[in-house]
Amino acid sequence: MQHKPAVLFVCLGNICRSPTAEAVFRHKVKQSALNIEIDSAGTHGYHIGSPPDKRSQAVAEMRGYDFSGLKCRKVQDDDFERFDYILAMDHSNLSNLKDMSDEKYHDKIRLFLDFADDPHTEVPDPYYGGKRGFELVLDLIESASDGLIAHLKQQ
Ligand code: 4NP
Repeated sequence: MQHKPAVLFVCLGNICRSPTAEAVFRHKVKQSALNIEIDSAGTHGYHIGSPPDKRSQAVAEMRGYDFSGLKCRKVQDDDFERFDYILAMDHSNLSNLKDMSDEKYHDKIRLFLDFADDPHTEVPDPYYGGKRGFELVLDLIESASDGLIAHLKQQ
């Protein structure tokens, strides 16, 4: 890829899964010597301006990830032009993103776990569950982040 690639992680609320993906991917990219623009957003605006969920932060901080400065925002129209990879956490996010955008952008919109070495196809919404759900989110995101970095290194 000639220009700096840009990656947007997307979930429903942008307070649990996609900010976790942003923090984990930023951390791994920093260790990889790649130069990538990274952001996250939600398809819905329930929590605009809020920091990531404390439960997501607690499990991720145990593994050394840093959430400082992250603040919830909603997906906006120009994201579809600006980002090369628009990576949805689940099938519902994927179909919402396609409904929100022109067909010419649909090749950019994929499931994040396409890059994971794992039988799961979705990062399950942890919001109404317990701590184990947040641990699973982190496990899946770490695997997909490693796969995405390997993919980007080949571009
Ligand atoms: P996320 O989780 O999509 O991973 O950020 C959720 C956050 C908030 C809500 C649902 C899911 N909510 O209904 O407010």
